[in-house]
Amino acid sequence: MRKVSMTALILALILAFSQCSFADDVKIGSCIYRFSDAFMLRFRNAMSAETEREGASIFILDSQNDQTIQDQQVDELISSGVNVLIINPVDRMAAQNIIDKAKNANIPVVFINREPPAEILKTYDKAYYVGAKAEESGTEQGELLAAYLKEHPEYDKNNDKKLQFVMLMGENGHQDMILRSEYSVKALKDSGIVPVQIVGAIANWDKLQAMNMMNAFIMSIGSENIEAVIANNDEMALGAVEALKANDYNKGNPEMYIPVVGVDANASALDAMDRGEMLGTVLNDADGQGKAAVKLAAALVSGKDIKSDIKSLGYEITDNRYIWIPYQKVTRGEK
Ligand code: BGC
Ligand code: CA
Repeated sequence: MRKVSMTALILALILAFSQCSFADDVKIGSCIYRFSDAFMLRFRNAMSAETEREGASIFILDSQNDQTIQDQQVDELISSGVNVLIINPVDRMAAQNIIDKAKNANIPVVFINREPPAEILKTYDKAYYVGAKAEESGTEQGELLAAYLKEHPEYDKNNDKKLQFVMLMGENGHQDMILRSEYSVKALKDSGIVPVQIVGAIANWDKLQAMNMMNAFIMSIGSENIEAVIANNDEMALGAVEALKANDYNKGNPEMYIPVVGVDANASALDAMDRGEMLGTVLNDADGQGKAAVKLAAALVSGKDIKSDIKSLGYEITDNRYIWIPYQKVTRGEK
């Protein structure tokens, strides 16, 4: 089954390549860890749009959250003749395999969103990473929550001068899960809040998992004992919001409100913020990252002086292999 669909994919790919003529003949092969991820959808759209603007071509595959499938896809993409890879690894610790494949084929590889360890990235001079600094998003998330708490001392429902919070975490081992969890709490502390995590749970970036967990916490802990929810991304924040709303929280009554913060600034989170259901988020700039990844891929294929090439496009390469796109706090006026 998989074999058949793969062959069909490759045929479609070859057809797509042969039907058009490309400016610099940039043929990008890309794998996304899981198409059903809301943030990665924004990322994909950004890459496709930029590829079109560049007059290049891109073929993007769904790795279905399975590293074995992704490794096969990389082989197939390489044998179909792509000249650069943009890879969103399923398991960032397994990036060595992909680097070795790219190295063997002598084509560059740009990793996105899931950062391979520096030791792995260093093993190939044509391996790059385009992303955003995870600790920055955690810090900004903690800061925007702290700003609200200072304006709203009534957050402290049990009057113990501490913030009892729930932490909803992304996939285990993801740099954004580790560092957002750490730096959001650090920023709270740095601004004088005394955070106390009453429960922390892994909801794998997923709205439904987060909603179910939050429902269970509300049952076991009691919503009156929860003073904030910090989620590593918007989807999980929205899951928490659903659970809160089902318990008559965050529906407009100021007595029944628990601040919920996320990261990404996905459209659905911005809508929830407009409705007053969610406090804030941090823009994870999918457009900027997708654009930079494609620009870098194209520059790498053209083989000129990458550093100045990329600089002229408004990006900077640091440590010879990183492009960092900044995060940005997003809040709405008070309702
Ligand atoms: C985003 C999450 C997304 C994850 C996928 C993170 O940077 O904030 O929403 O699920 O990347 O790897
Ligand atoms: Ca308290």
